[in-house]
Amino acid sequence: MLYSNIEIHDGRLFFAGVDAAGLAKKHGTPLYLFDEQKIRENCRKYTDALKACACPNSAAVYASKACCFAGIYKIIAEEGLCADLVSSGEIYTAKKAGFPMERAYFQGNNKTDEDISFAIDCGVGYFVCDNFEELEALDEIAGKRGIRQKILLRVTPGIDPHTYDEVATGKVDSKFGIAIETGQAIEAVKLALSKKNLELEGVHCHVGSMVFDSDVFFRASDVMLGFIKEIKNICGFEAKTLDLGGGYGVKYYEGQGEIDISANIKAVAEHIAEKSAELEIKTPSLRLEPGRSIVADAGITLYTVGSVKKITGYKNYVSVDGGMTDNPRYALYGSKYTVLTANKADKEASLSADLVGRCCESGDIIQPDVKFPADIQRGDTVAVLTTGAYNYSMASNYNRVARPPIVIIDGGKDRVAVKRESLDDLIKNDVI
Ligand code: LLP
Repeated sequence: MLYSNIEIHDGRLFFAGVDAAGLAKKHGTPLYLFDEQKIRENCRKYTDALKACACPNSAAVYASKACCFAGIYKIIAEEGLCADLVSSGEIYTAKKAGFPMERAYFQGNNKTDEDISFAIDCGVGYFVCDNFEELEALDEIAGKRGIRQKILLRVTPGIDPHTYDEVATGKVDSKFGIAIETGQAIEAVKLALSKKNLELEGVHCHVGSMVFDSDVFFRASDVMLGFIKEIKNICGFEAKTLDLGGGYGVKYYEGQGEIDISANIKAVAEHIAEKSAELEIKTPSLRLEPGRSIVADAGITLYTVGSVKKITGYKNYVSVDGGMTDNPRYALYGSKYTVLTANKADKEASLSADLVGRCCESGDIIQPDVKFPADIQRGDTVAVLTTGAYNYSMASNYNRVARPPIVIIDGGKDRVAVKRESLDDLIKNDVI
């Protein structure tokens, strides 16, 4: 099978050892299912590789944007990861879940004064500062609270990660970070070093997401180490930390490329250590910020089929009770997924149809050209695999569709981690 946590027994799909269609009956659909042991396994891939790597005191930072709910922070904290948080909402969720906030990194290209104050009050360990205005605002707010805030400075190394445009962030013309190439990044370093309430720890970049080209992180580290050297020469300041962001790609379908994450981390860290020696700078400690590769293959989504529409001479549609509201990734990026019929998983898949959602919009396609069993019908359970990342976190209430629950499976047992939204939840902020 494509994934180690997917098996088929007697024609039924088992996820993390549990009959998926059975869980669909028990919890209703649409339903997000997560495999806790898979999340932990993915975390360990990073923590093991970083612990053993050539850069001292290195650590993994979970990018919460991939999937943020209270329950995930307990797992992440126990596995020894830090957390990348990008809004007051993510900070609040982590804090409420009891995450050790000194291990939190506050990211984002537009932190309001309220966000900054809230993050400081929550005890966020690091700010990843994105722009000049933020440096000024953070210094002022930190000063008023009588603290010295640790920061990293986000810069753009000018690297094309060879991925889709929506997630390519390390190019010079990106809205994120400050460009090295234009000379603006070194000015930002000077500004940060001049601020008495800011403590610059190092530099940060994030080149993009869904990266399979193993060369990308080598090229990014070369540019970043060159910049660290420039900072040393010009400002006499030696950066302690190099954060290379997230981005390792994940396998969504058979035949897609793969990247050996553990091997790549080891090799990149060795490269950083060698290059640092060459440049006569201290080997920085390395931070990586995986999101997708922690949760993507730890999640699947289940739906119930409502109709099978065969438009004679044209095309076929299988409509389900979710759609772009719980998974907007095909609509946004044309993303590919593997789809199985959970209660007929061993039947020959001979009917070609688009798997579509329930929204009032033709673009509400979860996946085009899927092969279904010829007898697929109303009431069957469809599973879309690898939906753990950027599905729940990007879900919406379009058409006032309620967001599905998250159920976590561990040791053959299922537990609700996020409840299904109710109709009352949908109108709770409406003034009636
Ligand atoms: N660090 C930073 C600063 C980021 O901006 C991101 C992702 C990550 C880490 C995590 O990257 P990952 O390991 O997950 O590739 N909605 C898009 C993905 C957007 C990624 C945004 N930033 C999608 O569904 O493909």
